[in-house]
Amino acid sequence: MRSWRWMGLSAVLLVAGVGIGYQWHAADSPEPPMPAAAGIGDPYFPPAGNSGYDVTGYEIQLRYDPPTGRLDGRTTVNALPTENRAEFALDLRLPATQVTVNNQLARFHQDRGKLLFSPTRPVPTGRPMVVQVTYGGVPSEVRDDLGHDPPWTRTVDGAVIAGEPEGAAWWFPANDHPSDKATVAVTVTVPAGLQAISNGKLLAGPEPAEPGWQRWRWRASAPMATYLAFVAIGHYDIVTRDTPYGPYIAAFQDGLDPLTATVARAAVEQTPQIVGVLSGIFGPYPFDTIGGVVPDACAQQSALETQTRPVYGPQMFRAGADVSVVVHELAHQWFGDTVSVHRWSDIWLNEGFASYAVWLYRERTGGPSAKQIADQTYLCNFANTDFWRVPPGDPGPDELFNSAVYSRGAMALEALRTRVGDDAFFTGLRTWVTERQGHNGTVADFLALLERISGKKVDDVAQTWLFAPVRPSTPPG
Ligand code: ARG
Ligand code: ZN
Repeated sequence: MRSWRWMGLSAVLLVAGVGIGYQWHAADSPEPPMPAAAGIGDPYFPPAGNSGYDVTGYEIQLRYDPPTGRLDGRTTVNALPTENRAEFALDLRLPATQVTVNNQLARFHQDRGKLLFSPTRPVPTGRPMVVQVTYGGVPSEVRDDLGHDPPWTRTVDGAVIAGEPEGAAWWFPANDHPSDKATVAVTVTVPAGLQAISNGKLLAGPEPAEPGWQRWRWRASAPMATYLAFVAIGHYDIVTRDTPYGPYIAAFQDGLDPLTATVARAAVEQTPQIVGVLSGIFGPYPFDTIGGVVPDACAQQSALETQTRPVYGPQMFRAGADVSVVVHELAHQWFGDTVSVHRWSDIWLNEGFASYAVWLYRERTGGPSAKQIADQTYLCNFANTDFWRVPPGDPGPDELFNSAVYSRGAMALEALRTRVGDDAFFTGLRTWVTERQGHNGTVADFLALLERISGKKVDDVAQTWLFAPVRPSTPPG
């Protein structure tokens, strides 16, 4: 978890500095435009993302050289301005060498993770703004403004990127916030013999590039939050198979120790079967391809629900033949991926739901009921006062991935299910997905939907389980 606190402060100072430069001609002159680097307005991470435009699609072209760790990129950002502005910003943490807007060179500069650029000719709102950025650097050496480890990590023969809540800016210029979703196409040129895996379908690859290099082209057709885009490069064994949910493409990096590799394959290979169970609960699988990637990356500590193809850190399989992490990341395809948080304070919609999905999966596959697991989890944490201090409905930026968001978040869903009854609860989950597929939602939106469908009030349950920084007095079930 990275904190943007310090950046938040500097963004405020930057705002103040720009403000002084404005000429005020008359009391009724129009509001000055927001400075381009002011962020998209997420209270948890004020500098995250940018306003003034919507991205519709990213076309990312990369060339990666494993021995040096150098990444060179040219990315086309197709956007629609929503405000008339002289300057726009994208998130990018690698040095840029050229920016064009609608094929014209644009002035640009970079400051604390922002690429600020000024189109030579203003782009009116509603007209396409095609921004092409050429850039390059060594992403594994670029820290954020607090000095945290970069989300781009090198492996023995390649690299992998999977970061949340931020990550995109280490490999492509992005409006790096889940509220601006867009399609993503990734083309990666790597030394011949290496594989490059990304989201969506494989359009081509390996296809010849310049001598000694080859190219892989991937495209994800559904809009995606930027942190859900990924690329993994290295010597991988790629496994493919047709399924009712589209092509299954899984990749296991050479070099995984044999025991981890065996356990990881056995778990990830259950992806189609698990997607079958989950679609029976949540409604049709929302994308057109499935799979998973297991890099041999010790720095990749956890797993991430990268869209259509989760990335699983090898440590996730140390505990043996347990599919919980696979169920969790696949459940995110419904909760987090096709329906994304509007603000990071809505993280319960991701982690509470994916955690509860594991309980539902166990309930449906011969294990204990979700109610039994929920009550047991309540008792397991009974005396842990720190645990109950974190309210999953608004955990704060430093506790975004606190275990309370996951397990108390799942208990909250059990409590809501108890209140509204099974019919309304499961109809609610499916309606949430069908109504918001490809879009975003807030915690308040979800609670309102449950009330609408059940005709029952849930605000007291929400207060007790999601917002109060104390242990609820009775178990959830
Ligand atoms: N969304 C990931 C999951 O499926 C969690 C990522 C945790 N990230 C972190 N920086 N701790 O659980
Ligand atoms: Zn999760």
